[in-house]
Amino acid sequence: MSDKATLTYGDQSLELNVVEGSESEKGIDIGSLRKETGLITLDNGFMNTGSCSSRITFIDGEKGILRYRGISIEDLCEHSNFVETSYLLLHDRLPTKEQAERFSGLLNRFSLLHEDMRNFLKYFPLDAHPMNILGTMVNALSSFYPNVSANSMDEEIDICGARLISKIRTIAAFAHKKSIGEPVIRPSKDLSYCSNFLNMMFSSSVSDYELDDEQVKALNVLLILHADHEQNCSTSTVRMVGSSQANLYASISSGIAALWGPLHGGANQAVMEMLAKIHESGDIHKYIEMAKDKSNNFRLSGFGHRVYKNFDPRAMVIKKYCQNVLNTAAGKDPLLETAMKLEELVLKDEYFVSRKLYPNVDFYSGLLYKAMGFPVEMYTVLFAIGRMPGWIAHWKELTSDPTAKIGRPRQIYTGYTERSYTPMAER
Ligand code: ACO
Repeated sequence: MSDKATLTYGDQSLELNVVEGSESEKGIDIGSLRKETGLITLDNGFMNTGSCSSRITFIDGEKGILRYRGISIEDLCEHSNFVETSYLLLHDRLPTKEQAERFSGLLNRFSLLHEDMRNFLKYFPLDAHPMNILGTMVNALSSFYPNVSANSMDEEIDICGARLISKIRTIAAFAHKKSIGEPVIRPSKDLSYCSNFLNMMFSSSVSDYELDDEQVKALNVLLILHADHEQNCSTSTVRMVGSSQANLYASISSGIAALWGPLHGGANQAVMEMLAKIHESGDIHKYIEMAKDKSNNFRLSGFGHRVYKNFDPRAMVIKKYCQNVLNTAAGKDPLLETAMKLEELVLKDEYFVSRKLYPNVDFYSGLLYKAMGFPVEMYTVLFAIGRMPGWIAHWKELTSDPTAKIGRPRQIYTGYTERSYTPMAER
């Protein structure tokens, strides 16, 4: 017998189906509610509303679990790399050797930008934010590769996926070079995905960039950790736009716009800004006391999390694989030293310990990006590069679901009731 929930309103009573996921989480299917009772549900910010069923990512915030297609991020960061993890997200399975080679070949083939697209770059102002450039250029891809439909996507997922995953990296590096007024460095067929990106970012015709294995590993880990996080704001945006059958590139470009907001992808930048202030003041203790003071609304950015209440598994993984990169850079960068001191003090402080406030992924990701030499405006761009396979996987899942419907929430109207038009002379 399937589970039911009973909703009583006035003298009406309605039985609603309870659906269960593969990890035993349950949801009440309210699809028939309005038809049967005239009522809708109201859930500001979707705090308690499931928008879809999905096979892609599982999170258990209490236990600190994050798995893509069933495989834990710890396992992936230990054994995989960003390219293979991308394939896993797109396909629901790890690639065979041949499949992996084909996918890598496609990433290489699609890594160049159409020369006409490079011309777009010229006309952005020098101080244009790279997230703005990224969103605009990804949207423009629909003019260059117009034929991505739900059907072709199913047959050509490797091609559509590789094109976006590869080009976003080239666009990001070109946007950075544009912002510092240097000529672009083109992608190389001889470098892996992450090495290629670091080289395009930091190499120049007058100074070679020496790739460091630990940094390449750290970047792989960071991109894997950002690759998906189920129905967050930007992914829900991609699904919402995709639900109107808008094309893949337009849908993903909307996701980039959503990610840009400071409440979403911008948090790692807030951490660095806070650290700069603490460092300037020379008084860490003052900031810790301010964060504990209930009459002050200051909080330590990078500590605590809405979903992960015991620990953020992504932060733990970063610590495991990237500590050396941080340690090496800390000696040369006072901000990193401030960060490590702050972390040490907070983890011993009763206020933070009793409330289970641990460093979250944004605390470490910003520090690592800084340690690797990325400018602060590129932090959210790096998040977008990492999230690309997740967005594509969600778009594909949505558009290949025969039961999917256009996303169209309802509302409770709180404006005027009917009133008549007042002519201008009488207003
Ligand atoms: N500094 C000081 N105190 C904090 C902090 C913090 N960073 N975070 C939570 N607290 C305190 C709260 O004041 C509250 O104390 P109380 O119980 O005495 O009233 C208690 O801890 C619980 O906090 P809530 O606000 O109820 O926790 P919530 O789940 O609503 O908020 C959030 C989570 C928004 C992440 C919060 O911890 C915070 O503001 N952190 C700083 C911002 C940040 O790092 N954001 C990035 C999150 S990661 C990501 O989005 C990818």
